[in-house]
Order: sequence, then C-alpha cells, then structure tokens
Amino acid sequence: MERNEWEIAWSNFLRVDVPEMDEEHQQFIARVNELNQAILESEDKAKVARAMQLMLSEAARHFEHEEKLLARWEYPNAAAHAGRHAELAAQFARVTREFEAADLSFVRAAKGLRIKQLLVEHLLGEDMQYRDFLRSRARGH
Ligand SMILES: [Fe+2]
Ligand SMILES: [Fe+2]
Repeated sequence: MERNEWEIAWSNFLRVDVPEMDEEHQQFIARVNELNQAILESEDKAKVARAMQLMLSEAARHFEHEEKLLARWEYPNAAAHAGRHAELAAQFARVTREFEAADLSFVRAAKGLRIKQLLVEHLLGEDMQYRDFLRSRARGH
C-alpha cells in the first residue's frame, strides 16, 4: 500500500498509557488511514463506503469501551466525555452521509480528511485529559 500524505502516524505522543485503549486507538487510526487510502485510490464508492462503515463501527465500539473504563476509574469528566463521543458519532454519521451524496472526488477526499481531523482532535484534546488524570492519580495527587 502506497503511503499517502494524510496518513496519521502512530507515535508515543498519542499514548494514553492504558494498553487496551492504546491498542484500540492504534486500530482506529489504522481504519481511518485505510479509509483515506481507499478514498484516494478508488473511484469505487462501494469500496470506500465499506471502509467508512468499518471505521464507524470500530469508533462506536471503542467509544463504548472507553466510557466504561472512564466510569470505572471514576473519571470526573466521564459524562462530558461520553457526550463528546456522542457528538463525534453524530459528526461521523453526517460526514458519511455527505460523502455518499458527493460526486466529485475532491469533495469526498475532503470528507475523509474531516474524519481524520475529528479523530485526532479528540485524541489529542479529550483523551489526553483522562491520561493526565490517571497520571496525577498514580502520583497520588
Ligand atoms: Fe474518547
Ligand atoms: Fe479514545
């Protein structure tokens, strides 16, 4: 598979130091990369739609799992975080619908990029907040 410039590279910056979450984030990122790759390479809308569906179901599963852990950790922003997941899921679904309606490949490419952007923003913004919470709790304050 040829690398594309939109690929998200996994790095230690993206770790939340919870192995099962890091694993899911890596998987999730891989799905988004596959989706963008499919958008770039393929004029076959059905193929891209499948990659989109896979990414969406992975997202839903991950969000649910993460919310369970946040509740178990008694993370103070658990409810707000779950709210952000719900918003993200709605945004993903909207982008997917827009994607399906788009005929021009550059419009579709822009939709793929938007999904990537939403994902990275959430990871770097909100997921990192629970990482910091867990870290400071581990240090005992
Ligand atoms: Fe999250
Ligand atoms: Fe997450």
